[in-house]
Amino acid sequence: MLCIDALAVSDLKPEYLRCEYLENPFIDEKEPRLSWILTSEVRDQHQTAYRILVASKIELLEPGKADLWDSDKVKGSETSQVVYKGKPLLSRQKCYWKVKSWDKKDQEGEWSKSASWEMGLLEKADWNSKWIGKDFSSTTQPIPFKNKELFLPPSPIFRNQINLKEKVSKARLYITSLGLYEYKINGEKVGKDFLAPGWTDYNKRLYYHVYDVTDQLDKGEQVLQASLSSGWYSGYIGYALLIGNPVVRGFYGDTPALRAQLEVTYTNGETSTFATNEEWKVSSGGLLESDILHGETFDARKVPENWSSTNFDDKNWEQAEIINAGNRNLELYPAQPVQMTETIRPIEIHEQEEGKYIFNMGQNFAGLVKLKVKGKAGDKVVLKFGEMLHPDGRLMDENLRMARATDTYILKGDPDGEEWTPSFTYHGFQYVEVTGFPGKPTKENITGLVLGSNTPRVGHFETDHPMVNQLYKNIVWTQRANFVDIPTDCPQRDERMGWTGDAQTYAGTAAINMDVSAFFTKWIQDLHDAQWDYGAYPDYAPAPGVRSTDTYAPAWMEAGIINPYEQYRAYGDTRILEKGWESMEKFMAFHHQKSKGAFFYPEGSFADLSPKGGYGDWLSVGKKTPPDMLATIYYGYAAQLMAEMATAIGKSERAMHYHDLSKKIRTAFSDHYLDKETVRLVTNAAAYGDGKGYVDGQMGFSGNTQTAYANAIYLDFLDEEQKMVAGGHLAQLIKDNDGKLATGFLGAKQLLPALSATGHSDIAYQLLLNEEYPSWGFEIKNGATTIWERWDSYVKDDPEKLASLNNGMNSFSHYAFGSVFEWMFHNMAGIKSEEAAYKTFVIAPEIPKNDINYVSARHESIHGKISSSWKKEGGKLLLEVSIPVNTKATVFIPAKDELDVLLDNKRLDQHEGIQKGNFYKGKQAVKLGSGTYKFESSLN
Ligand code: BGC
Repeated sequence: MLCIDALAVSDLKPEYLRCEYLENPFIDEKEPRLSWILTSEVRDQHQTAYRILVASKIELLEPGKADLWDSDKVKGSETSQVVYKGKPLLSRQKCYWKVKSWDKKDQEGEWSKSASWEMGLLEKADWNSKWIGKDFSSTTQPIPFKNKELFLPPSPIFRNQINLKEKVSKARLYITSLGLYEYKINGEKVGKDFLAPGWTDYNKRLYYHVYDVTDQLDKGEQVLQASLSSGWYSGYIGYALLIGNPVVRGFYGDTPALRAQLEVTYTNGETSTFATNEEWKVSSGGLLESDILHGETFDARKVPENWSSTNFDDKNWEQAEIINAGNRNLELYPAQPVQMTETIRPIEIHEQEEGKYIFNMGQNFAGLVKLKVKGKAGDKVVLKFGEMLHPDGRLMDENLRMARATDTYILKGDPDGEEWTPSFTYHGFQYVEVTGFPGKPTKENITGLVLGSNTPRVGHFETDHPMVNQLYKNIVWTQRANFVDIPTDCPQRDERMGWTGDAQTYAGTAAINMDVSAFFTKWIQDLHDAQWDYGAYPDYAPAPGVRSTDTYAPAWMEAGIINPYEQYRAYGDTRILEKGWESMEKFMAFHHQKSKGAFFYPEGSFADLSPKGGYGDWLSVGKKTPPDMLATIYYGYAAQLMAEMATAIGKSERAMHYHDLSKKIRTAFSDHYLDKETVRLVTNAAAYGDGKGYVDGQMGFSGNTQTAYANAIYLDFLDEEQKMVAGGHLAQLIKDNDGKLATGFLGAKQLLPALSATGHSDIAYQLLLNEEYPSWGFEIKNGATTIWERWDSYVKDDPEKLASLNNGMNSFSHYAFGSVFEWMFHNMAGIKSEEAAYKTFVIAPEIPKNDINYVSARHESIHGKISSSWKKEGGKLLLEVSIPVNTKATVFIPAKDELDVLLDNKRLDQHEGIQKGNFYKGKQAVKLGSGTYKFESSLN
């Protein structure tokens, strides 16, 4: 409903109204935060005031009638994190809202279109459904697999028939499960979500979902159906089986259970609730095996015929078991669920041996396939998934380790053909090996379904360099493959856990590519839930305990500080800081205790961990950066972020404390790890003995590594003068290494920014464009469509190398090295946030001399669209930028001198009201408000 206000004179327009980062969501936050994005044709436009109306009915959404909240005119420029301050919100309450803004001249704009949110079930007493389930474990036989055994009980199916006396005006399904659920009404799946209700520490919180199912119900008899699978709750997790952990499955419980209630309002205003209870019947269905890591086996012959029909007689079904699931803390899922976000067609099929066909999907991704098949009852089609092929064309499954990753479909023999998609598993793959297919399959028989948390795409990046474009594509695909309810390390092998080191290093890139505000709201909670009693954050979250020695590690545990900080930086989210503050303080107290109050970690401080020292600069090449030096750097970095976050939430005393701590750590660091004369980073390598027990310890340790300098520069451990000298050492190290990088997980992100910051942009570009091992380009030259775990995961024309790499750890979809995108966005396109949420930002592109002539980047920030694109043309540099309403940017235009810069074809001094800054080091600064601006200058 668009409401044009007769008084509106400003063209300021609020759009994209969201509540708790989601559009028209179901929420359970009692003080939800609202946001909108403003557009205007007027340059340098900003909001000086806003007014929000919230009403319980759409008809009441007018001044004077808004019965829940009328904010009145509130002075201020906020367009996000605006907290609802109206009447207390009740369970099931629907809220309609709209907003208008006043512009810089205090002129009133139009009302926005209306949006809504709806409250979930806020009280425990709102839940009157029972937990139902069925334990099939006594009928389940173990299955031999790779010298071990798998235990995969069949999935129960549930049914209940109800009668709706009247036509329905509103119906909601509130649903959760221990394990994974699928719920259907009259044979039609409710919602589009996969792997719901996601993975959490189920003993601390369990999420439920709400679906509007009004359109799925009619007057009369209805069939309610559900099925369950073990999922993360009772299924296999990670490498527990591989390493011989005493527990390999059932980390949270043994039997899945369902709790759901369908609440119906009839057109006459009466209501009914249809809850899971003892009236529900249960049976086994077609799903004989089902597990996230191991895949599914579905026998279509075993699906009870017509069970979705009201004529079905369920007298032979058993009564559902009522499960005592304890008093769980139920909360509404706070993010975009996992959904199918794209479909993919195979690009080729080859018959690898008789009856064995390999489908190449052309892209490595996470998800499933939909199988289309026609054949006899009992025909059995087996689908195996892999990311790579052996040189002889066989599917490579060695790198999946103990993940069986196999789906099997047994046909019922429908003469019209059959279609099947698994429900409760997913795989990371590019290739599908198909056996048992009746006849010869064609490309029509397999469709790839891309699954992932449905985070909106907000970033775009393009250049005129094909390899760089492919790299960006690979980064985005790897993010899509690993943002599956939690940020996983990889989607294919028996791991898929929320490794904290990977997530902290990639968080900045993630937020440029996708709107991960809600996604990380969820995972940061998982992280807090997994914090150890003694204060350290874990190696991965959730942390069910797949190996007793997986405790904490430097630079992994700091995710508990870095991820909330990145959330604040990207979205201005202070609530997440407030909520997590106590937990973060506890972590800092752990550091204090662990470092014995010494403000640094000498060599050997983490020798009690396994591996010793933690994971360090994981998967680096050559000599290892001392883990304790990195631990000190991350301690200091955490202290610095704590100071900034304390300031953001008004804790000035804590801000001072952490500021002081951060300084002390930096001093202690240079006293111990810096040779102040030469500005060389040093370590007592002898303290590590023969390196036994440390990751790659046999290679020896040195302070003089790329990763050490990159971190010390990037994370501010040196003063300005020292930084420049250290930048020189870093540049020299790269030269000495034949112009190649040597960094692992803790240096790959920092390396290029550290070079740029110390005047070596040319070397940063050289590293980006390098195609020899180790480099990003090497992966692409070798056919990568996603980011690899290791720099040398695969070598195209070297079958032997491939064979030797089929080792225990070789994922082709690992996002950590994709964090180089931060530099691409910040330095190539030049867009860098200053104040949180891009309230103010910088556009300072670094133009390389050669190889790249065009870069274009865009980011839909919480304030609106930011873009920077430049090209070289006829000796000129053309730069176009856009700056959203309500923000300010300082643009640095490379030029000969200030007279060399044209803005919209006029010299800067011919413009009125343009805030010109200094000309410094070949760049002219201009401070601009919102709008799109075109600059032209001479290429140097
Ligand atoms: C994971 C990593 C993780 C690491 C710890 C690996 O198995 O795949 O990405 O961070 O363990 O070093």
